[in-house]
Amino acid sequence: MSVEPFAAVDVIGAKRDGHELTPAQIDWMVDAYTRGVVADEQMSALLMAILLNGMNRNEITRWTTAMINTGERMSWSMLDRPTTDKHSTGGVGDKITLPLAPIVAACGAAVPQLSGRGLGHTGGTLDKLESIPGWRAALSNAEMLDVLQSTGAVICAAGAGLAPADKKIYALRDVTGTVPAIPLIASSIMSKKIAEGTGALVLDVKTGSGAFMSDPKKARELAEVMVALGTDAGVKTVALVTAMDVPLGLTAGNALEVRESVEVLAGGGPKDVVELTLALAREMLTLVGIEKDPADTLRDGSAMDVWRRMISAQGGNPDAPLPVAAHQEVVVADKSGVVASMDALAVGVAAWRLGAGRSRQGEVVQAGAGIEIHAKPGEEIAKGSPLFTLHTETPERFPHALEALQGGWSIGEQASATLPLIVDRITA
Ligand code: URA
Repeated sequence: MSVEPFAAVDVIGAKRDGHELTPAQIDWMVDAYTRGVVADEQMSALLMAILLNGMNRNEITRWTTAMINTGERMSWSMLDRPTTDKHSTGGVGDKITLPLAPIVAACGAAVPQLSGRGLGHTGGTLDKLESIPGWRAALSNAEMLDVLQSTGAVICAAGAGLAPADKKIYALRDVTGTVPAIPLIASSIMSKKIAEGTGALVLDVKTGSGAFMSDPKKARELAEVMVALGTDAGVKTVALVTAMDVPLGLTAGNALEVRESVEVLAGGGPKDVVELTLALAREMLTLVGIEKDPADTLRDGSAMDVWRRMISAQGGNPDAPLPVAAHQEVVVADKSGVVASMDALAVGVAAWRLGAGRSRQGEVVQAGAGIEIHAKPGEEIAKGSPLFTLHTETPERFPHALEALQGGWSIGEQASATLPLIVDRITA
């Protein structure tokens, strides 16, 4: 029987009393928890001590490295293009990855995008893409390389071998009230992105009611920590802090968001989605020294070509009709005026309650469920005109979803102040 170098209770006590954890303590705690030597209740206690007392930069860097070291590290050195990726901290109507990956690939970079599923009111990229008939999220490493080499972009699920410590720790955080700790969020996201092997990374850190970090100051702090972690690991990293006080675009929900993404790839789509997609594309390309204008790929159809090949390569049919939910309910304007406010959280929760999201891991989501928005803040609307269309397969969900929307929008004489689309930019 091997002798463990530490006792978990001593490591917990050190953080409880406000001390800096040593590199050896961190390495051991993360590894021993992944091996099952440290118990869930011990790791929970440490996570709560970290949430309450924080971690300094050295500790966060070491914790991230320790999580990476519990699994495999991918490499794309065999590709003849530079790799660049984007990660969003998640929001309502945030379908940006869908048009972004093909745009950047069409400009000559490779985008190896490992994505997640939605939990709570924020949607997940894989759930959205799975609404395309036949499309498959689970790829082996060899398949991932194949798609990347043949199309320039791949969006798929992270395999079990990537930062397994994070999978265990994230599940524990979810049930112990320890999700919203900057050191834990930053290390969770960056361990997966660094292990994914991308050479460059653009972080889209959301702020506003629909985001994890509603306070822009906290969002900036999270962005700074993540940029430092990426840079220290040799990944060229930049972060944009972007608005999530109002939903992005005009749809929230899986198939609805795919439809809107295809509109963007066809040269149309809502202005905010196009603007943010192109801003992130420019950052991703600049990091790898490609000087092309990504907007050209929307005009000349090359981004759409990559999209079609990428979807087909993963078993999807880009020409198949997208699922449409069986039931719709329309919310109309109660007076004439200007849409004054529209709360991202309210729309996100309503879409979730309609069946677009899940409340337990593993739950099946409805491809067609969600919300269409017919007028955004600042736009005029006449009394009785549609403001939202709610979609679901299960109409008994309508009352609960309508309740979430109540107080989540208003009509007045002018729009209330909203955040600028790009709030801040953080570099190393
Ligand atoms: N996404 C992650 O992967 N981890 C977090 O902690 C938060 C968002």
